[in-house]
Amino acid sequence: MAEPEALTDPELSAPAPAWRPGDPRPDVASMLRVDQAGEYGATRIYAGQMAVFGDRQPCAPLIARMAAQEQRHLQHFDALLAERGVRPTLLQPLWNVAGHALGAATALIGPEAAMACTAAIEDEIDEHYSEQLTALGGDEPELAATIAEFQADEREHRDSAIAAGAEDSFGYPLIYAAIRAGCRVAIELSKRI
Ligand SMILES: [Fe+2]
Ligand SMILES: [Fe+2]
Repeated sequence: MAEPEALTDPELSAPAPAWRPGDPRPDVASMLRVDQAGEYGATRIYAGQMAVFGDRQPCAPLIARMAAQEQRHLQHFDALLAERGVRPTLLQPLWNVAGHALGAATALIGPEAAMACTAAIEDEIDEHYSEQLTALGGDEPELAATIAEFQADEREHRDSAIAAGAEDSFGYPLIYAAIRAGCRVAIELSKRI
C-alpha cells in the first residue's frame, strides 16, 4: 500500500520530466519510421492535389511550395533511415495510393477542401512532433532540432491553408475531423508496421 505522505510529496505533483533513469529510452527507430512515412504521405497528398489542379488554380503555387518542403523533409528522413539502418514502414505502398487518393479527392471537392485537408493533417502532425520532442527530452539533440524545424514548417503550412480558405470548405468540420482521425490511425500503424 502506498505511504499516505508520498501523495503530498511535492515532487509527485510537479510535471513529470520527459525521462527518468530506469524509464525505457524513446524508440528512435520507430520515431524515424513514422516520420518518414508521414513525410512520404504528405508528398503523395500534394501530388494528388497537383494532379487535379495543375497550374490552373490560384492555390497551385502555394501547394507547390508546400510540396517542395515536404520533399525536403522526406529526403532528410530517408537519409536518416539509411544512416541508422532503420527499415521504412511496410505500409509505404498503401500510403502511396491512399495519400494520392486523399489529395485528389479533396482537390476534386474544391480548393478550400484541399486546404482543409492540409489544415487537418498539419494540426495532427504538429501534435505528433510535439509528442516526439517531449519523448526525446534531452536525447538526440540533432534529431530534436530537425523535428522542431520541420514542425515549424508544418505549422506554417496549416496557417497558410487556413488563410487560403480551409475553413470556408463545404463540410469543413466533417472533413477536418475525418482526416485527423485517419491521420492518427496512419501514425499508429506506421509506428508499428
Ligand atoms: Fe513535412
Ligand atoms: Fe506539411
